[in-house]
Amino acid sequence: MIRVSVVGAKGRMGSHVVDAVNGAADAQLALALDAGDDLTAITPDNTDVVVEFTVPSVSLDNVLALVKQGVNVVVGTTGWTDDKLAQVKAALAEAPREGQTVFIAPNFAISAVLADHFAKVAAPYFESAEVIELHHPTKVDAPSGTAIHTAQAIGEARRAAGLGDMPDATETDGGSRGQVVDGVHVHAVRLRGLNAHEEVLFGNAGEQLTIRADSFDRISFMPGVLLAVRKVASGAYPGLTVGLDHFLDL
Ligand SMILES: NC(=O)c1ccc[n+]([C@@H]2O[C@H](COP(=O)([O-])OP(=O)(O)OC[C@H]3O[C@@H](n4cnc5c(N)ncnc54)[C@H](O)[C@@H]3O)[C@@H](O)[C@H]2O)c1
Repeated sequence: MIRVSVVGAKGRMGSHVVDAVNGAADAQLALALDAGDDLTAITPDNTDVVVEFTVPSVSLDNVLALVKQGVNVVVGTTGWTDDKLAQVKAALAEAPREGQTVFIAPNFAISAVLADHFAKVAAPYFESAEVIELHHPTKVDAPSGTAIHTAQAIGEARRAAGLGDMPDATETDGGSRGQVVDGVHVHAVRLRGLNAHEEVLFGNAGEQLTIRADSFDRISFMPGVLLAVRKVASGAYPGLTVGLDHFLDL
């Protein structure tokens, strides 16, 4: 049994993680902590993997403290920068136990991670590519981090394949052509009733390919979280790993 502690356990994501761990045959809940609780209660004696879903302003400090306490951490909280990642790497280099792991996933939805991968595979074969992300109207950032990542992956794959600029005769644009990320136009829709969705459109003369990922509910993140918990508990990924694609045998 993998002993899992959850930090941010009362939050929207954390409470789903508590349920997912309780429902998994190979995992058991150790501690469920939230703001104000004492993180030092989490030790290698009671926990194999901590799942951290809190807020960007506290996540780094939580992860650094947990690494110091000798436990592995799976992180879903967003807001990671290169500087913060470097601090985690430095902490891991001085971790008390050998082979300690921190895994951070900007997106735990397997559909979204696969869509990103499929887009990268398809990109060299199409003259045109555009990304449309669609989200609930309470989302504060646009375009989504996932859409930016997808556009960058497409741009990179096009460059590697020696593709030039995409055809586009637009001379006047009031903003309708979207944000250009790495040469790829990205469009954001905010609509009541949506959750998190992404569509990647590819076009050649006479043919199109559409890749679409739909996340309808936060529960969609749980298979990815449990996959990460199992991979991290296996001990096969010492150090820092970022991105669920590393665990999907792609
Ligand atoms: N990686 C992914 O796939 C993914 C998916 C959805 C959301 N997220 C991210 O996960 C994070 C959490 O999202 P949410 O919707 O659950 O937010 P939320 O506000 O519902 O929950 C955050 C929880 O963290 C707790 N918390 C705050 N400070 C804490 C501290 N110092 N120690 C312990 N707990 C603390 C809060 O009390 C709250 O219960 C956000 O950064 C969000 O963007 C990531």
